[in-house]
Amino acid sequence: MKLLVTGGAGFIGTHLVRELLKRGHDVVVVDNFTLGHKENVDCFENNSHYKFYNIDIAQTKEFCTKLKDEKFDMVFHLAANSDIQKGGKNPDVDYNDTFMTTRSVLEFMRISGCKKLFFSSTSAVYGDKKELLKEDIGDLKPISYYGGAKLASESFIESYSYMNDFKTVIFRFPNVIGPNLTHGVIYDFTKKLQDNPHELQILGDGSQTKPYIYVLDLIEAIVKLTLDTPVENGVEIYNAGVEGATNVTTIANIVCEELGYENVKYNYTGGNVGWKGDVPKFQYDLTKIHNAGWTASKNSDEAVRETVRNIKES
Ligand SMILES: NC(=O)c1ccc[n+]([C@@H]2O[C@H](COP(=O)([O-])OP(=O)(O)OC[C@H]3O[C@@H](n4cnc5c(N)ncnc54)[C@H](O)[C@@H]3O)[C@@H](O)[C@H]2O)c1
Repeated sequence: MKLLVTGGAGFIGTHLVRELLKRGHDVVVVDNFTLGHKENVDCFENNSHYKFYNIDIAQTKEFCTKLKDEKFDMVFHLAANSDIQKGGKNPDVDYNDTFMTTRSVLEFMRISGCKKLFFSSTSAVYGDKKELLKEDIGDLKPISYYGGAKLASESFIESYSYMNDFKTVIFRFPNVIGPNLTHGVIYDFTKKLQDNPHELQILGDGSQTKPYIYVLDLIEAIVKLTLDTPVENGVEIYNAGVEGATNVTTIANIVCEELGYENVKYNYTGGNVGWKGDVPKFQYDLTKIHNAGWTASKNSDEAVRETVRNIKES
């Protein structure tokens, strides 16, 4: 199949591209390196089944024009702003990179006749809910611009899918971690400890507790529920989650333990959130994705430990 991966130079996108090429597909990546890196995709350059476009996807006209001669069997739309705090300081960031990129992808699919879509959504669409998060819970009130832009994307996807008979799979990812991590709490802690091995600043009170999924588990789930399983018309939404959840102090302990830092003084900034718009605790109901035949190989704590070991090795 010929597949388009937007955001394919990013952390998760790179792993997805590698798996799709391994399976023998033709893969076209579009990215503009706002957060992704050229070095992430350099390793694919010599593969004749791989092609790269440097385009700002939020520019709908330019995106559709530059890709007008390409016909795809499916689009994996991963491009978005993944720097939540940067987005929190400037709403334009998520409007452009999280929402407008989706709008451009949908317009391109409508014009070019592509009918299959995978979209990387997020737990942030649920907002700060106390109950177990089920896909059809309703009354979604995101508390960050990022969550708002993802939920708006989901709504646009619903309408485009209905109007154009798209077959769409949406995964709401929790925190994704693993080899070649480029952002997030584990990445931040390792960077900070390199700078100062005696003290670690921890945003909030350390009690923020969320599920962390290992990226290779996630890629397996994406491929299984898009390419290996026939997708019906309309939109299927899955919580792509794992068993368990890990709190921030436990993450700090695992990072120190695995990387050999001893007697580190934790300095908490205080409050029960890392920053305004941060959802301090959530847990997914995983019934739907388990019933679809997929379960993660690693629970949240195991994913955290394995990721720190990946960092140590690299
Ligand atoms: N990593 C996580 O924990 C997590 C959690 C929930 C959802 N997600 C979603 O998964 C997807 C991939 O996330 P990631 O962790 O790999 O982030 P990432 O930042 O590593 O990858 C996103 C990629 O999109 C590209 N991009 C952004 N705006 C663009 C634009 N206007 N035009 C072209 N390219 C653009 C960036 O350069 C980057 O390479 C994103 O949609 C993100 O919202 C990630």
